[in-house]
Amino acid sequence: MSGVHTHNVADLSLAPEGKKKILWAGEHMPVLQRLREKYRETRPLAGIRIAACLHVTPETANLMIALKEAGAEVRLSASNPLSTKDDVAASLVADFGVPVFARHGESREEYYENLRSVLEFRPHITLDDGGDLTVFAHTEGKAYANEILGGTEETTTGVIRFRAMEKAGTLQYPIVAVNDSLTKHLFDNRYGTGQSTVDGILRATNLLLAGSVVVVCGYGWCGRGVALRARGMGARVIVTEVDPVRALEAVMDGFEVMPVEEAARKGDVFVTVTGNKHVLDRPAFENLKHGAILANAGHFNVEINLEALEAMAVRVERGVRPFVDAYHLRDGRVVYVLGEGRLVNLVAAEGHPPTVMDMSFANQFMAALYLVEKGKTLEARVYTLPREIDDAVAREKLASMGVRIDTLTDEQRRYLESWEEGT
Ligand code: ADE
Repeated sequence: MSGVHTHNVADLSLAPEGKKKILWAGEHMPVLQRLREKYRETRPLAGIRIAACLHVTPETANLMIALKEAGAEVRLSASNPLSTKDDVAASLVADFGVPVFARHGESREEYYENLRSVLEFRPHITLDDGGDLTVFAHTEGKAYANEILGGTEETTTGVIRFRAMEKAGTLQYPIVAVNDSLTKHLFDNRYGTGQSTVDGILRATNLLLAGSVVVVCGYGWCGRGVALRARGMGARVIVTEVDPVRALEAVMDGFEVMPVEEAARKGDVFVTVTGNKHVLDRPAFENLKHGAILANAGHFNVEINLEALEAMAVRVERGVRPFVDAYHLRDGRVVYVLGEGRLVNLVAAEGHPPTVMDMSFANQFMAALYLVEKGKTLEARVYTLPREIDDAVAREKLASMGVRIDTLTDEQRRYLESWEEGT
């Protein structure tokens, strides 16, 4: 499983199915395809080893292929034990020559063994989603980390971790916070999480959202997306928040806002999407209605306190439907948890659609180029990609959609750059 092995996937015979999915996703990732074409000849990543810890999906496969075609040597591990699509992993190995170390349902031990495997080839760049690979490269995997130029981070949770490391003075190399690019979080977090979370809940439960009460815990970009899409399907949506500005936005966006313990009495479906732990905890569990459904769309499985819920239960019935566990509470109520409290959109559905991952992964690709070009001059801090990259990604995406926009006239540009003209 470790360095001496060339891959660790569940079953290579699944490759043909995986390949179809990778090609389908690729058709819906035009910005990434343009980058592939642009850099295939010049190979700016030649000689660069990239270790990635991302959800092993068809969209990620397309990123790996693009990086490889641009000259990089790549290795891929999973950023969540339950999000790996085994057929995609198999196809990456068998059809595209990308060493993958990820199996759906891997244990925690195997998960870290796989991180070790991708680090063992001494990467120059780490690509991360949630921060586990980077933290590992700073701790147990330190021995493999001395050639690292820099890393990237895909998601809010990982960026929060790295900002904390920067503040504590423990960050050893620069990190590009891909999540902070506008063409990432405004689209992936909002429309990607919004749609795929609803998709995951529906695939797992076959509920009718119209008329049901959906409680969205957290009103960041992901929470906004979930609330928006749930409302779009006719749910009555309640938002819970700790941040007064976000709470106020939710109110003015037309949602009911209240403390989580109060919302617990009213909700049929709960979605945690805060990046924090124990957002749904014992006091909320005490108030839940019989039949309430709990799901998480935040990166880690800490948002629903499952230990506390289990302690309140006389028995836990696993798999009453795929991805649904029933917690039979002492007082007779039954509460359902989806996807073991892990990212419901990736566990019970297919994650964000390729159309939106296109922009996220175009930014990941550009971040890798940025680190190759600038890595040596950067400090061990968290960086955001320059605005021009956002503009270029947005222009390319608009062009792929056949949408044209206006340009400033010279007179307008001068006006914006001047200060003399007023009332
Ligand atoms: N994160 C959310 N959706 C994803 C997807 N489809 N591929 C990779 N990472 C994701």
